[in-house]
Amino acid sequence: MTILVTGGAGYIGTHTVVELLQGGHEVVVLDSLVNGSREALHRVEGITGKAICFIEGDVRDRALLDELFVEHSIEAVIHFAGLKAVGESIEKPLAYYDVNVHGSLVLCQAMAAAGVHRMVFSSSATVYGEDAPVPYMETMLRGRTSNPYGSSKAMVEQMLSDLCCADKRWMVTLLRYFNPIGAHISGEIGEDPQGIPNNLMPFIAQVAVGRRRELAIFGDDYPTHDGTCVRDYLHVMDLAAGHVAALSSLQHAGVRIYNLGTGHGISVLEMVNTFERVTGQTVPFRIAPRRDGDLAAFWADAGKAERELGWRAERGLEAMLHDTWRWQEQNPRGYVPG
Ligand code: NAD
Ligand code: UFG
Repeated sequence: MTILVTGGAGYIGTHTVVELLQGGHEVVVLDSLVNGSREALHRVEGITGKAICFIEGDVRDRALLDELFVEHSIEAVIHFAGLKAVGESIEKPLAYYDVNVHGSLVLCQAMAAAGVHRMVFSSSATVYGEDAPVPYMETMLRGRTSNPYGSSKAMVEQMLSDLCCADKRWMVTLLRYFNPIGAHISGEIGEDPQGIPNNLMPFIAQVAVGRRRELAIFGDDYPTHDGTCVRDYLHVMDLAAGHVAALSSLQHAGVRIYNLGTGHGISVLEMVNTFERVTGQTVPFRIAPRRDGDLAAFWADAGKAERELGWRAERGLEAMLHDTWRWQEQNPRGYVPG
């Protein structure tokens, strides 16, 4: 199949493109490069020995999309393109609704016009909201989101569900990711945040490689076993494989929803300690105040993806941390050379 991967030059996108190419699919990547990199795609080509058709452009650009769908026989779309920083979304809500919601809307309109009705959408565990009991299950209703980023994901989920109700040609899978970390085993591609990392894993890796002095652990007084927040971290290559499984199952009309997580929670302190043990690096840290909007603990019920997609996370925490460190050590400044 020829797959359009929007946001394919970003963190999850590049790892998924590796899986797609190795699975025999053809790939067209559309990315504005606002948070992705051309170098990352060159490295994907190096890993796979296959060429990627890359189009630099914006997912909100309808004329560009129309042209793209005429030039390429796209059978399905994996839609990663979007903005993802929770804190920034509170400061710039309009930018988040524009890119994430309006961008998805324009993409769907262009797909409909081109007769392409299959989509896998990057959603997030954040749509379960603030009050959901753990583990999160797909049968639960979406909850109250605490920031525009989360709201934008919930809105797109709703839009795609309404679309599938209205037009039985659409086949859509919503993948609710938990916390992806890790990197391709080659160390060639990985997570390369711009500026100060918002997320735990890249922050730990940048402290270990000497780019940052110490990690601030946001709160040690949560009602968890060691007082720090608990999350369900999964290997980005497992997440990538989940997209290929979701793509193969896009055979029936309507919306399907799957959690992609391991089903196990890990605390921040456990992450730091395990990283130190696995890599032999020291990660100095201090306890800082809680970060606004953080929930104490959540993890996935990952059973539905296993039952229906035949997918489950295969790689354990040690592999996630080894692979993160290999990437960071080989690329101390990310994709910037030197
Ligand atoms: P990323 O920022 O590395 O990748 C997103 C890509 O989209 C980037 O390459 C960026 O340049 C591109 N992009 C942004 N706006 C665009 C636009 N208007 N037009 C075209 N391209 C555009 O992020 P990621 O971690 O790879 O996340 C991919 C998707 O998964 C996002 O939709 C994100 O919200 C979602 N998600 C990520 C996480 C996570 O923890 N990383 C968790 C849940 C959901
Ligand atoms: N944390 C720290 N210090 C840091 C960074 C994070 O202590 O420097 C803590 C956070 O307080 C939280 C945990 O590490 O307890 C994980 O934080 P992340 O920012 O890595 O991940 P989140 O669970 O907050 O959010 C991530 C994505 C969201 C997505 C959510 C659910 O960033 O986009 O997972 O999928 F919605």
